[in-house]
Amino acid sequence: IQPTSIPLQSSTENSFIKKLKSSGRSLVVFYGSQTGTGEEFAGRLAKEGLRFGMKGMVADPEECDMEELVNLKQIPNSLAVFCMATYGEGDPTDNAMEFYEWLQNGDADLTGLNYAIFGLGNKTYEHYNAVAKYIDKRLEELGATRVYEMGLGDDDANIEDDFITWKDGEDVSMRQYKLEEFKDEVPERVFTGEMARLHSLKTQRPPYDAKNPFLAKVSINRELHRGSSDRSCMHIEFDIEGSKMRYEAGDHVAVYPINNSELVEKIGKLANKDLDTIFTLVNIDEESSKKHPFPCPCTYRTALSHYVDITMNPRTHVLKELSEYASDPAEKEKLKLMASTTPEGKALYQQWVIDDNRNIVHILEDMPSCKPDLDHLCELLPRLQPRYYSISSSPKLYPNTVHITAVLVEYATPTKRVNKGVATTWLKEKKPIPEGNCPTVPIFIRKSQFRLPQKAQTPIIMVGPGTGLAPFRGFIQERSVSKKDGQTMGDTIMYFGCRKKDEDYIYEEELTQYVNDGVITLYTAFSRDQAKKVYVHHLMEQNADEIHKIIVEENGHLYICGDARHMANDVRNTMIKILQKSMDKQQATAYLKKMETQKRLSADLKE
Ligand code: 2AM
Repeated sequence: IQPTSIPLQSSTENSFIKKLKSSGRSLVVFYGSQTGTGEEFAGRLAKEGLRFGMKGMVADPEECDMEELVNLKQIPNSLAVFCMATYGEGDPTDNAMEFYEWLQNGDADLTGLNYAIFGLGNKTYEHYNAVAKYIDKRLEELGATRVYEMGLGDDDANIEDDFITWKDGEDVSMRQYKLEEFKDEVPERVFTGEMARLHSLKTQRPPYDAKNPFLAKVSINRELHRGSSDRSCMHIEFDIEGSKMRYEAGDHVAVYPINNSELVEKIGKLANKDLDTIFTLVNIDEESSKKHPFPCPCTYRTALSHYVDITMNPRTHVLKELSEYASDPAEKEKLKLMASTTPEGKALYQQWVIDDNRNIVHILEDMPSCKPDLDHLCELLPRLQPRYYSISSSPKLYPNTVHITAVLVEYATPTKRVNKGVATTWLKEKKPIPEGNCPTVPIFIRKSQFRLPQKAQTPIIMVGPGTGLAPFRGFIQERSVSKKDGQTMGDTIMYFGCRKKDEDYIYEEELTQYVNDGVITLYTAFSRDQAKKVYVHHLMEQNADEIHKIIVEENGHLYICGDARHMANDVRNTMIKILQKSMDKQQATAYLKKMETQKRLSADLKE
């Protein structure tokens, strides 16, 4: 075993020390971010460094030579801040993986390094903020100095609140970007929704990824709910022929949606701005690697439609900046109060923004004196993120299409408004036209760890109520091919649940066919078809003997998928009960844990 540190990339481009020195900075804020929140927090911290007389910069650990942390002390009064998210089973985000492994395996001497850390996690997960806690521990072990107590954010409650409480201060009102508007002369290069390269959606060139999504035709879009269901669940097929994109059952497909045009137009009206105006935002800090907050120049309409999130509940720093634009003193005070860290302020923010579920449009409507500069608003709002769906097909049956199964999101808010899910509402309208041009959707594939066992003879138990069935439809298709090929098959057991058999029992015909063909054993729980609720884990309890045999004696795999908030926990607890047929409770808990590390237990959960 070589206990030496693993060299990371080390070209001068990756030298954050060089960048800090040449621009006279002393604060570097690293982020481990998957959905952008960590990155957003890092940006705010770097900007706020000025309050303490520190010029700051944000850095992606993946693009830095992190070994240089050893030398950060060369810069007087320097500080490294980490905003690190934890995912899944206590894993770091993709962009922090290499740094994490370097900390784990290395023995660098970090004496003299000043650091602070804020973790982004979710209390409903077992490994709450494991990454931040580990990095904090490791940095200290390697000799670094924690100059500020560690902060832990809980996304299950109010992570924004945790964050401002941690940094405990007020935002400095300062623009990071300067505005240029094009009034008469129209620039040659105007972005219209591309993620990076101009015209990348018109002249498509593989390889396709997050920066260069593939415009897939929607070849099928059909309703899966029946009868008097008041909800809608879509089965959508994306045509990926010719894209050279590959996928496996269990992967995710990302979709870049477009914001609802009514909301976009409303913002234009509320901010008194002609949305056809072409503008660009240029970073005031010329040395920053991030020249623009999103692809610029573009029209305000493009920015609001493709690049910024207008449906989330705005964070407190947005309210703080908005307060500057409110001419009515009462509205100004209210906005300021909500952005403050006082108990009343926090409570008001929780009630008026979070509980009442106001987005930026609702806030501007309810604060009529507040007329922000639209370019400033575009700078403040977070980037619109792609939406990820579990792929509900197998490439063995469908090499040229990727299927998803998605419930239309639409609900009334306490202020009597109707909020619509950005992506599902947009997808709902993407109906193929017979003999016409099919509508298209920008997509890319994201690999996942959610995989069938290597051997078809390994038995599996799948638990997926509602759209939790999605990835299992792919798994079942895959196993049906193995069976047709004459392979020895292990049991393939599916637990499905929904409200009513006649309404939201999605893919009923397909599942029934697989049962008849002997591909699967199916257990269904229709929660609302009788007075007393029946859920998937109730059925599992009834089948305790079979489950115990498959898991403990036959080394089977267990899969859980769904977005029912408590479902995964209920299933886990039921498993612990079932395992107690042959062990005590403590052993049962340890057994489940071991199953996870052996990849015999995997979960694909939403939220
Ligand atoms: P309910 O809505 O009638 O409560 C798919 O969403 C199915 O999962 C529905 O039948 C839903 O039932 C059910 N469900 C809700 N909470 C659950 C839980 N904690 N465990 C298992 N199933 C649950």
